[in-house]
Amino acid sequence: MYRIVSAIFLAENIKKIEIEAPRIAKKRKAGQFVMLRNEANGERFPLTIADSDPEKGTITIIAQGAGKSTRELNRKEVGDTIADVVGPLGTPSHIENFGTAVSIGGGVGTAIAYPTAAALKQAGNYVITINGARNKDLVILEEEMKAVSDEAYITTDDGSYGFSGFVTQKLQELIDSGRKIDFVLAIGPIPMMKAVAEVTRPYNIRTMVSLNPIMIDGTGMCGGCRVTVDNQIKFACVDGPEFDAHLVDFKNLSDRNRIYLHEEKQSDEAFAHKCRLPQHT
Ligand code: NAD
Ligand code: FES
Repeated sequence: MYRIVSAIFLAENIKKIEIEAPRIAKKRKAGQFVMLRNEANGERFPLTIADSDPEKGTITIIAQGAGKSTRELNRKEVGDTIADVVGPLGTPSHIENFGTAVSIGGGVGTAIAYPTAAALKQAGNYVITINGARNKDLVILEEEMKAVSDEAYITTDDGSYGFSGFVTQKLQELIDSGRKIDFVLAIGPIPMMKAVAEVTRPYNIRTMVSLNPIMIDGTGMCGGCRVTVDNQIKFACVDGPEFDAHLVDFKNLSDRNRIYLHEEKQSDEAFAHKCRLPQHT
């Protein structure tokens, strides 16, 4: 059992949860994730480790309540427990001093872009961060991103805060201004990562994305997280989750992520119904 030591909503439906997991906190590196199970017989699901405190023995995850398991997790409070937290899993982000590195977080993907931005800064890069959200209320980790950036930009789709437009428009603006960019990391919804890949491709800027396919075991055994990269089959949980954005088959990823949409919707609706019932039923 893994105890929750702090839990706070960063935005509507997006919760930051700090969990006691000393061995994971000691070993984890930027870009790695954990597989969680809320209850003993629950569904396994992956979440990237957003931060860790090896002294305190805790890791931090940020979850968007998007389906039954993440909604269930986001109902947990300080003192509650999580049945399983397995990790750290996945290949850590490749970090080196590239020169000027741009770390782009789209929506809740910022939770994953943040630790890698911090590691890029620590490796001596000039770090530019672009943190995009649909509107001002959905911007997360603004101060944390600023603290690891030489330049930090916020974008909102509706223009309610920062630059008005998509993260890709801000990136294009930086490129058009003549800035030399050596490395881009983009994490967020699939259409965003695909769009970033198309912005950087003509300039041959090395670009990495973190993929989020359906995962079951997280250890390379089940094949659930199969993705196509450079026309080859890769398992995101062990070969990734980060891959060269210019080689990823985003359509295949998107199609595979929709396979269980019907079942996911049914499970989510049943959970919502159960939550509306009085506690004693
Ligand atoms: P969102 O839809 O609010 O988008 C966030 C930002 O991404 C937008 O503000 C915009 O700047 C940019 N964006 C979105 N679509 C774009 C497009 N077509 N072109 C250019 N830029 C675009 O994001 P959200 O609701 O927070 O994200 C939810 C999605 O992110 C879910 O589908 C979830 O599965 C996925 N996600 C992915 C990862 C990952 O590891 N890649 C991690 C967490 C969540
Ligand atoms: Fe099973 Fe990756 S989640 S192989």
